[in-house]
Amino acid sequence: MASTTRTAALLLLLLLLQQSSVFSWKKEEFRNCNQTPFCKRARSRKPGSSNLVVTDVSINDGDLTAKLQPKNAGEAKEEQDEVVKPLILKLSAYQDGILRLKIDEDPSLDPPKKRFEVPDVVLPLFDEKKLWLQRVSTEVLDGDSAPSSIVYLSEAYEGVVRHDPFEVYVRKKGGDRVLSLNSHGLFDFEQLRKKKEDEDWEERFRSHTDTRPYGPQSISFDVSFYGANFVYGIPEHATSLALKATRGPGVEFSEPYRLFNLDVFEYLHDSPFGIYGSIPYMLSHGKAHGTSGFFWLNAAEMQIDVLGTGWDSESGIVLPSSQGRIDTLWMSEAGIVDAFFFVGPGPKDVMRQYASVTGTLAMQQFFATGYHQCRWNYRDEEDVEQVDSKFDEFDIPYDVIWLDIEHTDGKRYLTWDRAAFPHPEEMQNKLAAKGRHMVTIADPHIKRDESFYLHKEATQKGFYVKDATGKDFDGWCWPGASSYPDTLNPEIRSWWAEKFSFKNYVGSTPILYIWNDMNEPSVFNGPELTMPRDALHYGGVEHRELHNAYGYYFHMATSDGLLKRADGKDRPFVLSRSFFAGSQRNGAVWTGDNTADWDQFRVSVPMVLTLSLTGISFSGADVGGFFGNPEPELLVRWYQLGAYYPFFRGHAHHDTKRREPWLFGERNTELIREAIHIRYTLLPYFYTLFRQANTSGIPVVRPLWMEFPEDEATFNNDEAFMVGNSLLVQGIYTENAKHASVYLPGGQSWYDLRTGITYKGGVTHNLEVSEESIPAFQKAGTIIPRKDRSRRSSTQMVNDPYTLVIALNGSLAAEGELYVDDGKSFSFEQGAYMHRRFVFSDGKLTSSNIAPPASGKALFTSECVIERIIILGLSGAKSALVESANYRVDIESGPLNLRGRGSSAVLTIRKPNVRIKDDWTIKIL
Ligand code: NOJ
Repeated sequence: MASTTRTAALLLLLLLLQQSSVFSWKKEEFRNCNQTPFCKRARSRKPGSSNLVVTDVSINDGDLTAKLQPKNAGEAKEEQDEVVKPLILKLSAYQDGILRLKIDEDPSLDPPKKRFEVPDVVLPLFDEKKLWLQRVSTEVLDGDSAPSSIVYLSEAYEGVVRHDPFEVYVRKKGGDRVLSLNSHGLFDFEQLRKKKEDEDWEERFRSHTDTRPYGPQSISFDVSFYGANFVYGIPEHATSLALKATRGPGVEFSEPYRLFNLDVFEYLHDSPFGIYGSIPYMLSHGKAHGTSGFFWLNAAEMQIDVLGTGWDSESGIVLPSSQGRIDTLWMSEAGIVDAFFFVGPGPKDVMRQYASVTGTLAMQQFFATGYHQCRWNYRDEEDVEQVDSKFDEFDIPYDVIWLDIEHTDGKRYLTWDRAAFPHPEEMQNKLAAKGRHMVTIADPHIKRDESFYLHKEATQKGFYVKDATGKDFDGWCWPGASSYPDTLNPEIRSWWAEKFSFKNYVGSTPILYIWNDMNEPSVFNGPELTMPRDALHYGGVEHRELHNAYGYYFHMATSDGLLKRADGKDRPFVLSRSFFAGSQRNGAVWTGDNTADWDQFRVSVPMVLTLSLTGISFSGADVGGFFGNPEPELLVRWYQLGAYYPFFRGHAHHDTKRREPWLFGERNTELIREAIHIRYTLLPYFYTLFRQANTSGIPVVRPLWMEFPEDEATFNNDEAFMVGNSLLVQGIYTENAKHASVYLPGGQSWYDLRTGITYKGGVTHNLEVSEESIPAFQKAGTIIPRKDRSRRSSTQMVNDPYTLVIALNGSLAAEGELYVDDGKSFSFEQGAYMHRRFVFSDGKLTSSNIAPPASGKALFTSECVIERIIILGLSGAKSALVESANYRVDIESGPLNLRGRGSSAVLTIRKPNVRIKDDWTIKIL
């Protein structure tokens, strides 16, 4: 009897546990700052406690070098049981206003271990931008009592190292500060040392023990941004675009922003808690200075406080007024100081500066910019075939169908469950015939199964990450017992890359691309669901030192694999959940396991924008929400917004109901079709923007302030965003919305994308909204290239004619660009592409080439013509003259919208039939 009651109680408990796991984020599984000793220590330090001074300043190899040590180090020595060794400081200046500061232990003083410096993130070419410092001027500045060393950074900016107390800052030449480090004396660098007899270095969390063989080694310091209204960046968190303060009176968040890559089940929609990826890069923007950026290249766990007004009063030390200055506190468990200061001053300047360090977006294949259809799982070949054919039946374009983990033989990646997928090549060939592609999942956990070739090889070669005792690390993930390739090691990356050759990946064909998931790495039985910090990598690197970059190296290795498989000819496509600074060079990123609710839908916009600001230009959220079943209205709204994410994919958990676009009745199918169709019409514009991101680091989607840096009303707007410089989009984030208030920035007007009706800029409009669409506007003064014919997939649109949409500004002028290449290969790198510029002014539209002459044999050409030119903001004209060919074409006027709504100031030139490859002029008569 007693045992029956116990069993029943146990069952009830299990049921409750399971329920709570369904409905809530399991907070107790993760450490907060107080449970994280280095964070707790750093947060308790008082301003002014750093007490460091700079000595021995000199120039070596074009850098400023110096020593950093406690003031009165000599005197203190006798009382301390250990000598405090000086740290080595190195300051380097680079072109375009970039200052790099490195601080590390002195290798000549034999530290117990070399601290980890993150390799393969900074571009090798970055070094070429170094300005070889010739001299340092030493002056006593701004009422200081001690001197500072000043170095040249650019015509307008200089770097300053203040000696006592130690501080580094960038300022306008002889003038205002832009960014500074250690202005509040919070700098602390725990040097590696021998363990004292009575010391316990182990750290325990829940049932896990971190042996911490090297003891405390954390680093923390304050960074201040001047002339700033807001700070942004440091993904990945689900929260607002403008970061909220985490310390000081009345703050909303009490935890710092955490950067620690974790597989977080059902993340909250507004929290500083860290999720799948980390980029320790913060930007500020403000009326007074413009934009600046601070990047700390460090892959250990980081915690970052945004210090709200009055934060210092907590410590009893009140600092000078912080008007226009935003203070932040950066804390990392390990690594070195390798920090980059970007002076801006424009938002796009900062984007370029950051890109010159970490690289730009890898140019994507054209198909990847279309719509992706995913689900956990498409069960078998028949399922794939049916879903594929339904897209045709319902006339909905799509480019890629995805297979999740169940397609494999028992979660052994790069294999097939042959019962469900007996003919993978045939399946892919059928997709290929329609110009479509497939993506399969390949996670980093390798099933520990002696008969599995990947496991056998990795074990024999010693390619797995090791546990603290030196054995292959054995953790729990989808396949059960698993081990993880140590892709920090270039040799292991190259081994993993080989596995994607058509010979090795049996059943793969050239239309198959890859999805890397769970690469934080996710370890179900590990501390905080990840790998123990004392696990060991290549070169004796502890996992704690590189944790946040593990997913980055794995993504890199996979992307290299797809490159190798195509002999370097085709561009890879790899989606990754985990990321680090520089992941844009490896491919796309998505925001992981969101939930099908309105709040999560809403937060997808600041999340994607934050990724864009920090270099990850190709990102998106699961359309529809991963967990749960969206109401049809939410699903439709999500498609309408998701059509403007750079990466556009519908995805769902296996417990959810099927939700392919045609399953919600005719009307909803029509609305989703329309949303996807809009994306396809805009692909030429998107692709042009992808190329811009690839060349300059300016992202595809942008916060409004990137385009309107002077307009304060945009600074914390994260409901709307810009697609390129021409389109503004705002989601509808509530049920049954009848109205939306939309702020349209700038001095110029805006044209509603559907009706052509104009709206004034610099005003918040209260707009009526219907189920048909979300607010989207074209900025006056821009030209957008489109392809309006409906096809099955993007690849089938290649030869389709273009439509140009010209939105005239107050001076009846507009301009825009079109970039076209073969959409697949790397020949664009040899100049095989077209880049056109369209300018409308004085009643004439001209098309001219802006591509440099192609080098070598690599040429790209296209016979595509322009079949329609829509001019918004003009009326009356009846015909136009195509000047070089000297023929006339008719102009139609009238409403844009088929339902008869819309502006009357719209003209349409039909069939001018000029080719996009030619230079031409069309004159309105
Ligand atoms: C977690 C991923 O975030 C999700 O997208 C995927 O469907 C599951 N893993 C299964 O692979």
